[in-house]
Amino acid sequence: MTKKKSDYDFIKESIEKSIERAKELQKIDPDVFDEYDDHSLLKLICIQYWIGFFTPIVAKHFQSRGKPMIFVDSMAGSGITKTKKGISLCGSSPGALISANDKKHPFDYLVSVEIDDNKASTLEKRLDKIKNNTKVYVIHNDIKNVSQDLKDKLKKSIAFTLIDPQAFKGISWDSISPLLCTRGDIMVSWFEWELWRMRCSALSDTNPSSANATMGRITNLLGNEDWKNEDDPEELTNIFIKRVLNECQKEHAEVFKIKRVSGGNYFKMILFTNNKAKKAAMKWKANMERRLSHMNYDALSTLLDVGEGKMISLDQYTDESTIPQ
Ligand SMILES: C[S@@+](CC[C@H](N)C(=O)[O-])C[C@H]1O[C@@H](n2cnc3c(N)ncnc32)[C@H](O)[C@@H]1O
Repeated sequence: MTKKKSDYDFIKESIEKSIERAKELQKIDPDVFDEYDDHSLLKLICIQYWIGFFTPIVAKHFQSRGKPMIFVDSMAGSGITKTKKGISLCGSSPGALISANDKKHPFDYLVSVEIDDNKASTLEKRLDKIKNNTKVYVIHNDIKNVSQDLKDKLKKSIAFTLIDPQAFKGISWDSISPLLCTRGDIMVSWFEWELWRMRCSALSDTNPSSANATMGRITNLLGNEDWKNEDDPEELTNIFIKRVLNECQKEHAEVFKIKRVSGGNYFKMILFTNNKAKKAAMKWKANMERRLSHMNYDALSTLLDVGEGKMISLDQYTDESTIPQ
């Protein structure tokens, strides 16, 4: 019987794998990458664990009955994320592809949409290097121009759809609702505090035209003006979740909070599923929460340094041969 991994080993292995894979991918167009905080790593672990956890379940129920299993990365980036310390990590599209392959349930198709031409063409080359039998399509476009078409094309498939914007850039209900209505599970990175900031600024802005523009954006996303009466950021998130459950044939939502390890406010990952996947979604969240509960800034930085080979790990340190004489 294989020994169950400790939570620490799970995080350590996820980081080491992500860094190792990124090293290979970054040989392609080394100057093209996405640049984010260390907490992006937690987000990427969360996405990869979702894929690793759910692909075997979905493959058993659907792929075996001839329904193609697809990963849709609707705001995909370049395939490499660099932290501010300059450490490269494997981005969401290659990460998902590799996680499904590792579980021996590769996706039939991977569709990545990216508005930035430079990032999109680099992502295409990076995915080409690792795709195995998965058919990969990288679409250089604004998600708002392709989401309805994607929804129509995905009718007979079962999709894992990721919506991972930078705050609310490029996001409107029209651009994301067709994706939220696809058959399968959807994960959304949700910037609760950014929306709260937009709400406060809209309600206090003395310039009517900019206040109206921000109010219009929030109402478009949340579906009505109830948000104006809320005095808690979480309530705005709840309005969005209710809208998706009501209008997009989803039955369940699990919300996982990611604290920014370098300080500042948290953001959330929302996983929408149907009722049959409810138990699995709850387990996914509980496992993520337990595993990441000890990840403060120092712990994460140390693990990143170990993964990069800048420091020796505690395991190596206890091996006498590595103790400096
Ligand atoms: C947070 S990044 C994605 C990071 C990626 N998921 C990862 O973790 O590797 C968001 C990406 O969305 C892209 N983007 C922004 N607006 C978009 C739009 N309207 N349509 C498609 N992509 C968009 C940006 O260029 C950026 O690369």
